[in-house]
Amino acid sequence: MELRNKVAVIAGGASGLGRRTAEYFVHEKGARVAILDLDETNGESLAALLGEQNAIYCHVDVSDEASVAAGIASVIAKFGAIHACINCAGVPTPMKILDREGKPSGCARFAKTLAINLAGTFNVMAHCIEHMVKNPPCDSGERGVVINVASAAAFEGQVGQTAYASSKAGVVALSLPAARELSAVGIRVNSVAPGLFNTPMAQSVSAKVLDSLLSMIEFPKRFGDMTEFASLCAYLCENAYINGECIRLDAATRLRAR
Ligand SMILES: NC(=O)c1ccc[n+]([C@@H]2O[C@H](COP(=O)([O-])OP(=O)(O)OC[C@H]3O[C@@H](n4cnc5c(N)ncnc54)[C@H](O)[C@@H]3O)[C@@H](O)[C@H]2O)c1
Repeated sequence: MELRNKVAVIAGGASGLGRRTAEYFVHEKGARVAILDLDETNGESLAALLGEQNAIYCHVDVSDEASVAAGIASVIAKFGAIHACINCAGVPTPMKILDREGKPSGCARFAKTLAINLAGTFNVMAHCIEHMVKNPPCDSGERGVVINVASAAAFEGQVGQTAYASSKAGVVALSLPAARELSAVGIRVNSVAPGLFNTPMAQSVSAKVLDSLLSMIEFPKRFGDMTEFASLCAYLCENAYINGECIRLDAATRLRAR
């Protein structure tokens, strides 16, 4: 699907990988973007930077279905259609199974991580698809494209990542059945599993942890550049034959336990 003049919903688009993708889609591909995010300050300022005719910010909590529905309704009111959906909203939630006193950490944080990273992905995808199915098919027969953002932790979750890794493994798992279900209406679904990227999420961990993470990267031996992620998302939109796939974008990184 060619991106020029198409509308892409980018959940988690106010920061990091999602933000770079929004900029790339507008500046390099001539697309219009809807930034769905909790972060009003950064979301509004990014939409203003990208230009009112190209971008809209919607205050959305992806884990709340009513909030997602209201955000998507605003996108449709502004742009009239949705062609691509990129699910970048996520939280890392480091947690051990037992707390420092040896007591179960409790299910609430675990469940909240799944509600944002996994159910949130499903919510945004479903509400975008409701509108994508109404698009006339383009030359390739496509009506829309979904990209769900997983993580290398979906495959090699580290100590302290039970919640995060489970949520991201769920994101990988939901993409193939979604692609199968939506093949009848010409909508493709893929996932991307980033390795280690230099984003605000990565900047929230200590220097010691960052050094340890860097030692696990093979080649190129550096954190991923956000444009490398954004350009892969654009490619996944443009190449009609990639469907039901999970692409690791990780410089051959395989996460160790610690
Ligand atoms: N940065 C990395 O190295 C890396 C590696 C693997 C996977 N990922 C995944 O990529 C995605 C983007 O990561 P990032 O590093 O750009 O993170 P980030 O923290 O820079 O951006 C995440 C965005 O999601 C938003 N968000 C969080 N909870 C939300 C909610 N309930 N509703 C709406 N928006 C919400 C935040 O406000 C933020 O703008 C995440 O899903 C993350 O798990 C990142």
